[in-house]
Amino acid sequence: MALDISEIQTITHDVVVVGAGGAGLRAAIECRLQGLDTGVVCKSLLGKAHTVMAEGGAAAALGNADSRDNWRVHFRDTMRGGKFLNVWQMAEHHARQAPDRIRELEEWGAVFDRTKDGKINQRNFGGHRYPRLAHVGDRTGLELLRTLQDKAIHSGMYTHMECTALRLLKDGDRISGLLGYWRDTGRFVLFRCKAVIFATGGAGKAWAVTSNSWEYSGDGQRMAYEAGAELIDMEFTQFHPTGMVWPPSVKGILVTEGVRGEGGVLLNSENERFMFRYIPEKFAAETADTIEEGERWLNGDTKARRPPELLTRDVVARAINAEVNAGRGSKHGGAYLDIASRRPADVIKKKLPSMYHQFKELAEVDITREPMEVGPTLHYMMGGIRVEATSQMTRVPGLFAAGECSGGMHGANRLGGNSLSDLLVFGRLAGIGAAAYCAEVKEQPEIRDEDVKAAIRWARAPLDRETGENPFVIHDDMRQVMGRHVGIWRMKDGLEQGLVEIGKLTARIANAKASGTSQFNPSWSESIDLQGLALSAEAVARAALAREESRGGHSREDFLDESKEWVKVNIVIRKGEDGRMEVVQVPRAEGPPELVRIANATLEQLEAGDV
Ligand code: FUM
Repeated sequence: MALDISEIQTITHDVVVVGAGGAGLRAAIECRLQGLDTGVVCKSLLGKAHTVMAEGGAAAALGNADSRDNWRVHFRDTMRGGKFLNVWQMAEHHARQAPDRIRELEEWGAVFDRTKDGKINQRNFGGHRYPRLAHVGDRTGLELLRTLQDKAIHSGMYTHMECTALRLLKDGDRISGLLGYWRDTGRFVLFRCKAVIFATGGAGKAWAVTSNSWEYSGDGQRMAYEAGAELIDMEFTQFHPTGMVWPPSVKGILVTEGVRGEGGVLLNSENERFMFRYIPEKFAAETADTIEEGERWLNGDTKARRPPELLTRDVVARAINAEVNAGRGSKHGGAYLDIASRRPADVIKKKLPSMYHQFKELAEVDITREPMEVGPTLHYMMGGIRVEATSQMTRVPGLFAAGECSGGMHGANRLGGNSLSDLLVFGRLAGIGAAAYCAEVKEQPEIRDEDVKAAIRWARAPLDRETGENPFVIHDDMRQVMGRHVGIWRMKDGLEQGLVEIGKLTARIANAKASGTSQFNPSWSESIDLQGLALSAEAVARAALAREESRGGHSREDFLDESKEWVKVNIVIRKGEDGRMEVVQVPRAEGPPELVRIANATLEQLEAGDV
């Protein structure tokens, strides 16, 4: 049947933001403040984004709970947490700008928990020297999203819900639009625009145990890669140490790090606080090596060091994994997380209300009386679309990215709480960047009919082919492959085997058959999502194979140590001329001297202002 492009619904904006999590909404707000006609396309409904899974708080050096905190210490913590692979300037923007973004959020109506003297309260989290996470109980992401949504709607953004973005369209090198489809009717929609901002999140659904929901299928990474943008640091995947492990139906759901921030401890089957045995050499100077010292720190003794349960996520996840492998795991194959014996029931219910309900409802566990069972869950991808540090533009003119789908800010490992502040800081910068770009583009760029037709043919293929494999079966197999070969621990043989398997999955995906019609068809949606997942899975496995060391969220059994050579390069993935995935080692720029001094300073030097 001949396609008639003129019959396709067309919507024109200056800028289209894809994704309505925190980064997308903050970008949309900024675009509106800058006077741009702004449309937000989201695959799901407003309010349903992975942002809500950053439960424990947003990291910003407000200095409310400890006046010694400032952007320099936050910057240093972030670089150390990221194992010095972070893009220097992004980590600087983040640490410097996060406090203003939190205060602004409060002006827009966010209701944070308070200190006794009425300031925004801040809690401890892994890798942060001082209590730094502005929070709303354990529902911070939800409150942030609610606030941004209200502000964005009132600032006049257009919302296009239940609309899946399919492919970027270009006029020569630059962005000219985006093809999508309405999930309910199955009809295509053409967005004409000067700029696109991706805020599409990660690709956690490639793994079996994940805190991510169905939307996290690497759509932005796929579309950006296909359009000529690069991906960076894809080997770094964050396994949050504490996801639920029982019952099986809820395996992977997040248990906030706020539980440990409020004093919760990890125990093995022998009732031992095993984290004391897993303190890495380089964090020894800042980590308590006795229970007593850890307790003093939690009680506010500024001379004491923080307990090892608050080491960075990569360290804690590997430690739980090691305990389970050594036969000291909890009943259902995780570790015990105990807050019940450490805090009164009323405090637990006040500070961790969602955790209380989550365990009560889903696992019939009362966390004020008994320990939780927890284990690692794929939570976040440090890698993503490569952007310029300030404008957030990719190497495709007019294409911007912010939040989890972009890479560089967090290096090899993200500190908990840094994602909520990341999406505020970089969502805003992407909006500013897009406005500056749009100001230079006088005419609406052209969209070629052939490109739209090709995109439609590609998107409809799973519906139109006569026979083919069930996409849900392929997805299931992908989860197994990623768990087996690209999990917390990796090694050469396994990664090579993984790549062979991912290649087979990719071939199967190209022949998947979506049964039924185009209207609200999960099988069609799955066939499309699988393409982003497969692309992301391949990028992760290729980058992981290339990086012959262990660093942050990338652990190699055959290269156990961090290497002085590998900190000098980022691994960048792009589409080669022949259509294959290219893996390039790109030398990292030297950090500006002031930032290098801060990152390498001791805490004493920073506290004395001696840097
Ligand atoms: O544990 C948590 O509440 C997650 C926070 C984050 O990922 O930043």
